Amino acid sequence: MSAPSLETKVGGLTLQNPVIAASGTFGYGLEYRPYLDLNRLGGLVTKGISLEPRQGNPPPRIWETASGMLNAIGLANVGLERFIAEKLPALAELDCAVIVNLYGEAVDEFAALARALDGRRGVAALELNVSCPNVKSGGMAFGVDPQAVAAVTRAVKAETGLPVWVKLTPNVTSPVAVAQAAVQAGADAISLINTLLGMAIDARGRRPRLANVVGGLSGPAIKPVGLRMVWQVAQALPGVPVVGMGGIASGEDAAEYLIAGASAVQVGTGNFQDPASCRRIAEELAQFCVENQVARVSDLIGSLRPPA
Ligand SMILES: Cc1cc2nc3c(=O)[nH]c(=O)nc-3n(C[C@H](O)[C@H](O)[C@H](O)COP(=O)(O)O)c2cc1C
Repeated sequence: MSAPSLETKVGGLTLQNPVIAASGTFGYGLEYRPYLDLNRLGGLVTKGISLEPRQGNPPPRIWETASGMLNAIGLANVGLERFIAEKLPALAELDCAVIVNLYGEAVDEFAALARALDGRRGVAALELNVSCPNVKSGGMAFGVDPQAVAAVTRAVKAETGLPVWVKLTPNVTSPVAVAQAAVQAGADAISLINTLLGMAIDARGRRPRLANVVGGLSGPAIKPVGLRMVWQVAQALPGVPVVGMGGIASGEDAAEYLIAGASAVQVGTGNFQDPASCRRIAEELAQFCVENQVARVSDLIGSLRPPA
């Protein structure tokens, strides 16, 4: 069999392969240049950008757990102005899709970020983080309320012609109502899942492991939750592109998400274990297609069969 086609589409955006580096685990992308050829990625999502620079939460803000990790970074980032001046020029030279992840504490902050990035060379799409569990305002407070998610999405769409991906939290009973509200407000794609709210305790010291006490759980431990939510949203909203993530560490993990209904996938925690994991996962996915007589990776999307 000849080499499979890895190309996929997320809304109007064409990706050379479906593997994208996830927000917050890949810096601003540029830090990973020593480890892999960024031009060969399906895409990369920047760390969440806010209007003003943020220091994030005090340390310790990372803790390793069984098959995963907890983080409470608190959206540390350089802020919009420095992002545009110092990061975007180099990102604009890349041959992969650069998706800028946005974080605001209010609807008008998201709108101002979108306005400032609209029409900038190098930005392929915006991803709205309405799902961060590690900040006291905004973040997940928006993400659990369909009306608030709709308001943020509508305000951003009014400011930009760029594709808008809305990133949902798994910390809800069902993601379908929130996804539906985002799509009705103009979202071009739904990304999911962000991290699951969790906690770790040092029993001997009787203290929380994280200074923030609670944090977001990611990594292989959350893959079943991510698969289930991607499948639920893809089933309920046919035709709406879904970008799936949560615990992807191999090409076969990526294939599972595509089969569940995702049009593309993101790799987060995997980048910490192996900084070249996005490249490896894309290669493994191509190999999976060869071994399973799949001519185009897009043929996998939503191809789940009924239980045996
Ligand atoms: C250290 C860390 C920082 C993160 N920062 C962001 C962020 O700034 N914005 C965002 O939307 N998601 C952020 N996430 C969530 C990831 O993009 C991803 O949704 C989540 O980790 C699940 O994927 P994974 O299991 O492959 O890591 C972060 C995750 C981690 C582990």
